[in-house]
Amino acid sequence: MTLSRLSIQHLRNLESVDLRPSPRINLLYGENGSGKTSVLEAIHALAMGRSFRSHKHKPLIQHEREGFTVFARVVSDEREIPLGLYRSRAGEASFKADGQVVSSVAALASLLPIQVINSQTFLLLEGSPKIRRQFMDWLVFHVEPDFFPTWKASQRCLKHRNSLLRRDRIEPSELAVWDRELASLAERMHQYRSASIERFETVFLELLDSFIRIPGVSLSYQRGWDKTRTYSEVLEGGFERDRQMGYTHSGSHRADLRLTVHGTAAADVLSRGQQKLVVCALKIAQGYIFSQLTGRQCVYLVDDLPAELDSDHRAKLVEWLDRLNTQVFITGVEKEPLLADWRSRPQVHSQVFHVEHGGVTPVS
Ligand SMILES: Nc1ncnc2c1ncn2[C@@H]1O[C@H](COP(=O)(O)OP(=O)(O)OP(=O)(O)O)[C@@H](O)[C@H]1O
Ligand SMILES: [Mg+2]
Repeated sequence: MTLSRLSIQHLRNLESVDLRPSPRINLLYGENGSGKTSVLEAIHALAMGRSFRSHKHKPLIQHEREGFTVFARVVSDEREIPLGLYRSRAGEASFKADGQVVSSVAALASLLPIQVINSQTFLLLEGSPKIRRQFMDWLVFHVEPDFFPTWKASQRCLKHRNSLLRRDRIEPSELAVWDRELASLAERMHQYRSASIERFETVFLELLDSFIRIPGVSLSYQRGWDKTRTYSEVLEGGFERDRQMGYTHSGSHRADLRLTVHGTAAADVLSRGQQKLVVCALKIAQGYIFSQLTGRQCVYLVDDLPAELDSDHRAKLVEWLDRLNTQVFITGVEKEPLLADWRSRPQVHSQVFHVEHGGVTPVS
């Protein structure tokens, strides 16, 4: 999947931008505040319905404008599909693919799968379990069509059970209905996730090993409840505690991924640069497995690549981005270091853009 055309109107400082990106490597350079990250935000908004910087859409709308528009032509299976997004201050949100209204974020996300690598990616190691769950579920979502409906049903079921737990009088037969349903959904989610992580772990560790030697690294998946018991048993045994707390303590909604080095959390052991490489390896392994399993490619948005990496490790990362054989948008403040990374790969099709005061111009 690649963007063959990208136009953006009235998004942050981007007044009116119209690009014909390379199907492979797109390098955007420009000084601080010129609009580089905003270009990536526009692509993200089109793919996911929102920016990676903010869950709110209003900060993206250019000051004194009513709304922003992002339009792209997405090449998929040798077809070109127009994708369009308009969001207004008044709250209007319109997503269209191939002329048809797209009504759910899930449908949108499957049209244009993307991966972001930026300074926030560190949160995969040091942030909350929710961030890691979202990360692992990205792959499951894209390769297992039944995962999203299962996840949605389990969220709904959990809400019902939690509201029941907060009642003064809990009817055991009513609780049993939700417990049964929740147990079956949680076991199914666990199966999808564990199968996906098993596959993922091998690729990730191999990839990481080629980036950087960190002996003792390990990735483990935690299902969200005591693995020596079935989830039904856990729900039954934990009922008193759940009732006192007013919510369901254990379950697939508490699943997590743990990345450790000799048993200690990676975030507590690794240097900043090492952490950056580890999270890059996580993101790249995911895109790699995604294309292996689906025959499709995801678009990579890499914001400020060189920061905090030495030239050897940057070269490694560039090599992996190249090997993915996918469309990549990379930003950087300085032109030279950004280009230098790719100069040793003249065979790769690339396009350089200069971003200046909200305008984007191709550089030959
Ligand atoms: N709603 C808005 N309307 C107009 N301008 C905005 C709005 N929101 C942010 N800006 C401005 O748009 C510019 C775009 O910032 P952006 O983050 O894209 O820059 P950048 O090139 O990535 O910079 P850096 O190198 O510092 O990361 C900034 O100057 C910012 O102040
Ligand atoms: Mg930026």
